[in-house]
Amino acid sequence: MPILTVKTDKKNINIEQGAAIIDVCETEETSILFGCRDGACGACMIRVLENPENLSPMEEHERDFLETMAAREDERLACQCKVLGDVTVEVSE
Ligand code: FES
Repeated sequence: MPILTVKTDKKNINIEQGAAIIDVCETEETSILFGCRDGACGACMIRVLENPENLSPMEEHERDFLETMAAREDERLACQCKVLGDVTVEVSE
C-alpha cells in the first residue's frame, strides 16, 4: 500500500493505490485545503518533493490552470492527483 507523506504535517498516510489525495484528506486531517475540487481555484496547490512519477499524470485541464498561475514545475493541484506509489508532498506557499 503506497504511503502519502505530507511533509507540512509530518504525516505518513497509508493510501489505497489509485486513491485520490482529496479523498484521503477528508478523513485524515492535513493542511492541504480544498475549494472548488475541480482544478479551477488553486486552493489545493501542493509541491511534490519526492517521486512525482507516483502521482497520476497531469491532464490538460490541470496543466492549463498551473500555467495560468505561473506555477513551479514541481507544483500540482492535489484535487486532481491520484496516488500510484509512495510520494512526498507539502503545501505550496
Ligand atoms: S480545490 Fe480548487 S483547484 Fe483543487
